[in-house]
Amino acid sequence: MKSVIVFGSLNMDLTIQCERIPQQGETVEGSNFLSNPGGKGGNQAVAAAKFGAPTKMIACVGQDVFGQKLLNVLEEYKVDCQSVKISKSGQTGVAVITCHEGDNRIILSSGTNHELKAEDVKEVLYKVAKPGDLFVTQYECEQNTVLESLQIAKEMGMYTIFNPAPAKIIPTQYYTYIDLLVVNQTEAEFQTKIFPQEEESCKEAIQSMRQMGAQQVIITLGSSGSIFNLGEELYQVPACQIEAVDTTAAGDTFIGVLAACLAEEKDLKESVQYATKAAALTITRYGAQQAIPYRKEIEI
Ligand code: RIB
Repeated sequence: MKSVIVFGSLNMDLTIQCERIPQQGETVEGSNFLSNPGGKGGNQAVAAAKFGAPTKMIACVGQDVFGQKLLNVLEEYKVDCQSVKISKSGQTGVAVITCHEGDNRIILSSGTNHELKAEDVKEVLYKVAKPGDLFVTQYECEQNTVLESLQIAKEMGMYTIFNPAPAKIIPTQYYTYIDLLVVNQTEAEFQTKIFPQEEESCKEAIQSMRQMGAQQVIITLGSSGSIFNLGEELYQVPACQIEAVDTTAAGDTFIGVLAACLAEEKDLKESVQYATKAAALTITRYGAQQAIPYRKEIEI
C-alpha cells in the first residue's frame, strides 16, 4: 500500500477565543484557552493517519515539553515519527491563535521547524520512501528546503502535493516538481495576481498555475467549496453547509484526507469529496489535531 509522507511543521497551538480583536495597546477578555498540537505539517499528517493511511512524518522539534507532547500525540494518532529530529538547542514551534466569530488569526514562532535542510529530508526519503508514495509539504519550514525536497521526491518517483501556505511565491522552475498544487484564494492570488472567486477568475488562476507547470491545481474557496481541473475540464465541489466554530486546520484536514484517498487510488473527484466533508467536520470543533475527524465520522 502507498504511504503518505509529510515533511512539515509541528507547532504547539496556544488558542484563545475572544469577543473582539483588541486595538493597539488594548487588552480584551478572552475565554476557552486551549493548548493543543498543531502545525500545518502535523495537522496534514494526522488527517491522513486518522483516515487510515500509513503516514510518516519528517519534521524537527526541540528538546522541550512542547516537542515531547507533539510527538506523543502524533504517535497516539498512529503517525510514524521515527524520522522526526529532536534539536539539541532549538525551541519547538509555537502558534499563538486568536479565534473570533469562528475565524482565526495566527502568529507563528517557527523555532525548530526551520532547522531541517534538504539533505536531511533526502536522507529520510531514501530510507523510507518508495516510488508512487505521496509526498506532502507546505511552506512553514525553510523555503529552500521545501522547494528542494519537492524536487527530490519527484525525482524519486513520488507523487508530490504542495500547499504553499503561509503564502509565499513558488519560483517558476519548481512548478515542474509539483503534481498537485492545493491553494486557497489568497495563496492563488499570491502566485497569479488573480483573486479567484467566481468561475471565470478561478479558471484564469488555474490556467495561470498550469502554464507555470503545475499538472493539477485545486483552489479551495472556503464556504463555496473547491474547484479543480482534470486535464482541461474544470470541476467544482460545493462545501457542506455547517456552522463554523473554529476554522483552524480545515485546510490541513482537506489536504491530509485528499492525500490518504489518493494513496488508496481513489480518483481525484471522489478524493475531493471526502476531503471536503472532513474539512467541514473539523471546523465544527475547537483546536487543530484534536478537531480532525476519523474516517468513520466522515463516512457516515
Ligand atoms: O493551518 C493551521 C495551523 O497553522 C495551526 O495548527 C498553526 O500551528 C499554524 O501553523
